[in-house]
Amino acid sequence: MNNRLGVCVIGSNGAVATTAIAGIELMKKNLVPRRGMITERELGKVLDLVPIDSIVIGGWDLRSDNAYEAALHHGVIQRHLIDQVKQELMQVRPWAATTLNKSHRSQEQNLVLKKSIREELKHIEQDIQKFKALHQLDRIVLVNLISVEKFSIVEDVHATIEAFEKGLDSDDERISPSMKYLYVACKMQIPFVNFTPNLTKIPALEHFSEKCGIPIAGEDGKTGQTLIKTVLAPMFAIRDLQVDGWFSTNILGNNDGLILNDPSSNKTKVMSKEKVLDSILGYKVDNHQVHIHYYKPRGDAKEAWDNIDVSGFLGENMQIKIDFLCKDSILAAPLVIDLVRLLDFAKRNGEAGIQRQFSFFFKAPYHAEGEAALHDFFKQYDLFKNWVQKSLMSSKKAKAPSKEELVCR
Ligand SMILES: NC(=O)c1ccc[n+]([C@@H]2O[C@H](COP(=O)([O-])OP(=O)(O)OC[C@H]3O[C@@H](n4cnc5c(N)ncnc54)[C@H](O)[C@@H]3O)[C@@H](O)[C@H]2O)c1
Repeated sequence: MNNRLGVCVIGSNGAVATTAIAGIELMKKNLVPRRGMITERELGKVLDLVPIDSIVIGGWDLRSDNAYEAALHHGVIQRHLIDQVKQELMQVRPWAATTLNKSHRSQEQNLVLKKSIREELKHIEQDIQKFKALHQLDRIVLVNLISVEKFSIVEDVHATIEAFEKGLDSDDERISPSMKYLYVACKMQIPFVNFTPNLTKIPALEHFSEKCGIPIAGEDGKTGQTLIKTVLAPMFAIRDLQVDGWFSTNILGNNDGLILNDPSSNKTKVMSKEKVLDSILGYKVDNHQVHIHYYKPRGDAKEAWDNIDVSGFLGENMQIKIDFLCKDSILAAPLVIDLVRLLDFAKRNGEAGIQRQFSFFFKAPYHAEGEAALHDFFKQYDLFKNWVQKSLMSSKKAKAPSKEELVCR
């Protein structure tokens, strides 16, 4: 099988994107351990995944720095490491993002102004074709890593593909950049990952992705506080400890944190984080609060606190405190690499539409109409393992390991 995989990243100059790009180049040179990725453990290795060495990344950004300059700016990876892949990173220059002429964007941004959404879509499509030809790529995956968009809800224009395409024709402003890229992915039969909390789970595109035969996965990578929440909550449920309140707060000083200072973007993120508890516990936690604060000195080194109030035997109250000193992009980048390889495999395996088995990667996992989102980390992981087993059986290439064997891998 020809095996060169191109990854087109929307927001390729961001902290997560540049950490993933630099990480891939460092791994290719064996300069860093291959850690934090399920696809580099036995469980992933049994699948016929594209090797990390065959991955080429490009993408769009509103900023025009090359990936070396951007990685230095974000300060996530230590300078002595970035310098060892300087040549490779300097070659990754973001393609100009597109937007409508009427949009109020500052002049210095890396932008191509278009007269209509249809022209924007054509521009995106051409960028992908050029990238594919330039690097002689066999397949492409599209990954959304742009900044958090303003809060939006599903409206009539998102209900059916007919309404959506009419919206494209009339330059409907309710069609966001994230939705435009997903539409192009469907048209070009490219698997799509939405790592952001931006609304893409809309009926029109959900059905369209199935019809076009492309696998899609999202939304909002589950990297830190929510990961811990969806691991602990099942334990409380099993031990019958009643959760009376869960107060979560974060400080972070990266660009994502700055964008989240805007109340409308903040709402998009908080909504994505808030939904996870009740469905795991089976009751509504009235005092579940999630707060996100921009605090510049921290940069990418986010601090996430949780105070959990629980009551147990005889109604006695107890508290649990968690202080997670994490690194936002260091947690996120390996998940992006995992998702790229898994979505590429899923497409080759004939999967289309929502990929529920990848729910454990996301805070607000895609789910089909009439189905609840799955949040319990262990149930999510079970679903993934079952899918790995099923995929192996169907490919008949290897003897599928049992589920028990997969647990410890
Ligand atoms: N870091 C994490 O742990 C984590 C976890 C889950 C989700 N996410 C999400 O991933 C996304 C990326 O995070 P980040 O920390 O890299 O953010 P970032 O702000 O560093 O990067 C976002 C990039 O997108 C670019 N951009 C914005 N609008 C664009 C457009 N229309 N077209 C092209 N480029 C555009 C920006 O210029 C920027 O370079 C965010 O939406 C964030 O909420 C991050």
